[in-house]
Amino acid sequence: MLKIENLQAWYGPSHILQGIEMQVNKGEIVCLIGRNGAGKTTTLRTVMGLAGRASGRVLFEDNDLLPLPTHRRNGLGLGYVPEERRIVQGLTVRDNLRLGLLAATHKRRESDVISEIAEIFPRLAERLDQDAITMSGGEQQMLAIARAMVSQPKLIMLDEPSEGIMPVLVDEMFALFAKLRDQGTTILLVEQNVELALGIADRAYIMDQGLIVHSSSASALLADEEIKERYCSV
Ligand SMILES: Nc1ncnc2c1ncn2[C@@H]1O[C@H](COP(=O)(O)OP(=O)(O)OP(=O)(O)O)[C@@H](O)[C@H]1O
Ligand SMILES: [Mg+2]
Repeated sequence: MLKIENLQAWYGPSHILQGIEMQVNKGEIVCLIGRNGAGKTTTLRTVMGLAGRASGRVLFEDNDLLPLPTHRRNGLGLGYVPEERRIVQGLTVRDNLRLGLLAATHKRRESDVISEIAEIFPRLAERLDQDAITMSGGEQQMLAIARAMVSQPKLIMLDEPSEGIMPVLVDEMFALFAKLRDQGTTILLVEQNVELALGIADRAYIMDQGLIVHSSSASALLADEEIKERYCSV
């Protein structure tokens, strides 16, 4: 579904991605792991067309992404929940979800979307008319994910969704990711909480200094104490 070949990226003169090779197949949760500064966020941003200059190839269902502007990539069915959540201040939860609807590839009825959200994120459905900025960090993160889901992406990329969220909510959220995968959404997950991420992932890639240095099934990596020690301690 997503195939990344020799992807290089620069921020100004800094050569950040040094030739990434990775692939995400339909229906998988793939986890991208690595130390701070390894280039995980830059990889997701480059796939979305939000980083600096890039070369190489990024294929999404046979579409060559790098020449396309970000909104065209969204239109092909790519969703992205960045590290910083981009909740729009002064808008209610409902308004934020409407923004997601505007980005939807197929027209959808707002009432259908709200009932779907109520099922997955009951907390949000109870707060539809609350100013989103007054919600807790965990609720805002859920809203950011819900807003991305509303547009029914084929592939959703999540950057550190557990950051700053209490463990019980994180467990709930990760259970939701597994459920979304089982319903057909493909997920590329960047996550510092390695054990938790590998618990729901199918496969994993490890990044270091702008390169993929290891790839394996999630279960093999979970059992590999040496690799985890070398690349996953933050
Ligand atoms: N806008 C930018 N301008 C210049 N350098 C940048 C920019 N954004 C990131 N970098 C640099 O690129 C490198 C990779 O950063 P990136 O954010 O991709 O890492 P990361 O793996 O997501 O790290 P973390 O786990 O801390 O989120 C870092 O050295 C960082 O300083
Ligand atoms: Mg990052």
